[in-house]
Amino acid sequence: KFKDGSSWEESQIKRAKNAIGGFTKLKPHDQIEKRKTEETQYDYVFDNSQAIEFQLDSNKDEKQLNREQEVLEEKVKEEEKRIKTIEQTRKSLPVYKKRTELMQLIKENQVMIIVGETGSGKTTQIPQYLYEDGYTQNGRYKIGCTQPRRVAATSVATRVADEVGTKVGDTVGYTIRFDDKTSEKTEIKYMTDGMLLREFLNDFELSAYSVMMIDEAHERTLSTDVLLGLLKVIIKTRPDFKLLICSATMNAVKFSEFFEDAPIYNIPGRTYEVELYYTPQPEANYVHAAITSVFQIHLSQGPGDILVFLTGQEEIENMAENLAETSNKLGNKIKELLICPIYANLPSELQQRIFEPTPKNARKVVLATNIAETSLTIDGIVYVIDSGFVKENKFNPSTGMESLEIQPCSKASANQRAGRAGRVGPGKCFRLFTKTAFETEMPDNPTPEILRVNLNGVVLLLFSLGITDIWNFDYMDAPSSDNLAKSLSLLYSLGAFNENGEFTKIGRQMSEFPVDPMLSKCLLTSGEMNCCSEVLSIISMLQETNSLFYRSKEKQQQIQASREKFISKTGGDHLTYLNIWNEFVDSGYSRQWCHDNFVQFKTLNRVKNIRTQLERICAKQSLLLENPQSSNISRDKTILHVMKSIVSGYFWNVARLNRGGDSYKSLKKNQQVWIHPSSAMFKLKPPVKFLIYNELVLTSKEFMRNCMPISERWLSEYASHYYTDDELNEGGKKK
Ligand code: CDP
Ligand code: MG
Repeated sequence: KFKDGSSWEESQIKRAKNAIGGFTKLKPHDQIEKRKTEETQYDYVFDNSQAIEFQLDSNKDEKQLNREQEVLEEKVKEEEKRIKTIEQTRKSLPVYKKRTELMQLIKENQVMIIVGETGSGKTTQIPQYLYEDGYTQNGRYKIGCTQPRRVAATSVATRVADEVGTKVGDTVGYTIRFDDKTSEKTEIKYMTDGMLLREFLNDFELSAYSVMMIDEAHERTLSTDVLLGLLKVIIKTRPDFKLLICSATMNAVKFSEFFEDAPIYNIPGRTYEVELYYTPQPEANYVHAAITSVFQIHLSQGPGDILVFLTGQEEIENMAENLAETSNKLGNKIKELLICPIYANLPSELQQRIFEPTPKNARKVVLATNIAETSLTIDGIVYVIDSGFVKENKFNPSTGMESLEIQPCSKASANQRAGRAGRVGPGKCFRLFTKTAFETEMPDNPTPEILRVNLNGVVLLLFSLGITDIWNFDYMDAPSSDNLAKSLSLLYSLGAFNENGEFTKIGRQMSEFPVDPMLSKCLLTSGEMNCCSEVLSIISMLQETNSLFYRSKEKQQQIQASREKFISKTGGDHLTYLNIWNEFVDSGYSRQWCHDNFVQFKTLNRVKNIRTQLERICAKQSLLLENPQSSNISRDKTILHVMKSIVSGYFWNVARLNRGGDSYKSLKKNQQVWIHPSSAMFKLKPPVKFLIYNELVLTSKEFMRNCMPISERWLSEYASHYYTDDELNEGGKKK
């Protein structure tokens, strides 16, 4: 039938081989497998993860076949182009030129500190080089790479999977809390530093890994700092194990000193000049100033995308809204502005948007937290606008108060931020602060997290690893002993260890949950009280309370009305969350139900996922076993048990109503505190006398978030070992 005289079958095979020609690198011709399925129909199947499968139908005429072939060829060309671009990109990265030298040094040294500008290819390339050089010994070992941020772990894994030519979860995977995309096939594994820390619980020697790369070490997150101390032990017991510490250009010497003068390798950067501009006077409102600057750049400067550094989600959302409004008003008078927010809680499909190339005739504006300082590389940025601020978590051990404070960032951070403008060519950085402020108000380096956050989780983890002398653990920067003592005393009161300092069964059970120890204690109690399922739901909801309801200025009233439907006056925020969850479950996890109630479907889906994973641990610890008598327990009794379970974990956080009736006093510290306006108990009439709270946060006032009313009696039941009689009975009747 065919012009060249070949038979139909021959021509199909030829066609298939042609089509596959584009994949020759992936698969040689002779491995094409032909499978006859029916008299007139053939499948050509290539056993490769990138294989194309296609069916050809003998009834189709030649024209149709040709059209199909054209489509196929187009696909092949695209794929070829993709592979070529990836190869070109990989070869163009600064680390590529140093590959041989770097690999040789890694071979010779057990520990290396690797320093390089953001975008030089450390995170995406080095694990691939190690993989290509056989460090996984054909799947016997994994190559691990930790990231302080979830966004970085997932986006980098996606990119590397793409470069390697597999799906995420095959050769390349990632693990972040409550989301595990790895399989037995995974040989390059990206993960958050917190997840690696948890891996120590099951494998103290990290025997699954031949190399561990601690990336973004300069961020000095709590987990990274603890990891460094633990890894220092491993390198002594496992001479075959390689440790790489990667950081942006700051602080390398400190890491080297910590690891007995490990060699520092510098990847020569490829950066261009960045011109710095300061404001002549301090800016009263940096968000306004940033908006103005965006339009000034857009209207007066040459092509190139803009990156704006702000401090948090709300600020970013407000600015995005404002920019969109203004640019809509200007309409056709200006070129299009593509506004892309990026912050840790942004759903991942939206996160990927910042990496998409900017169309011609448009300009991209990325609004970011310090997440874009070093851990994400966005191509095409020429202008940086820097607010000069950062939001930092601070914990005060003497009051138990957490605060998220917006404060000047460090000089090192400001310089990193500016550097983002000089990756593709000369750039400009507009600093929304004065030169004097830079020199006199900004600290040289950021404060390591271990010096400013709550250590309960870490102390519990160290204990479960058998490290009981937490004072003499090898910290790069030792936390204050007040803070350690506070965590010890909390864990002791929860029963995690006994008066001899020995770790208990309760402690071990608590440490298996990837949540705050106080929450895991609630789960343990709920197991004894036959209400684990309910407490599980509440705790899963508590992980995701920030983005539960839609936010919209126009629909504010409807949203508020919807919230109020769920409110439980007797059970406070905790039972309110349970109501929301239960209704969602009853709706069959319905998207429509969420929509009708102004609840974010995505958030509840995440809760569902978290709940499944926590449930698995509960099941393992037999906390979900139904007591035979439980079937005739009334609903009210169950609720009572739920509330008591929560008290058993949170008795540290009790507050008593003040005489005036508008504020509370924390029972132990005697500190004046208020119910957070977002709480179901805000302005409840009459106000309850006693309540517990999950968090104490300092914003405009000392606010208690996630509150639940309690009965004074429950305290003598669950916290008599913690409160003195005087504290419990102050102002009230004597017991
Ligand atoms: O870790 P480092 O900052 O040294 O660089 P990297 O993250 O390995 O990035 C190297 C290059 O990979 C960047 O210049 C980007 O072009 C690209 N990349 C990407 O396209 N998408 C990602 N999610 C991460 C990196
Ligand atoms: Mg990196």
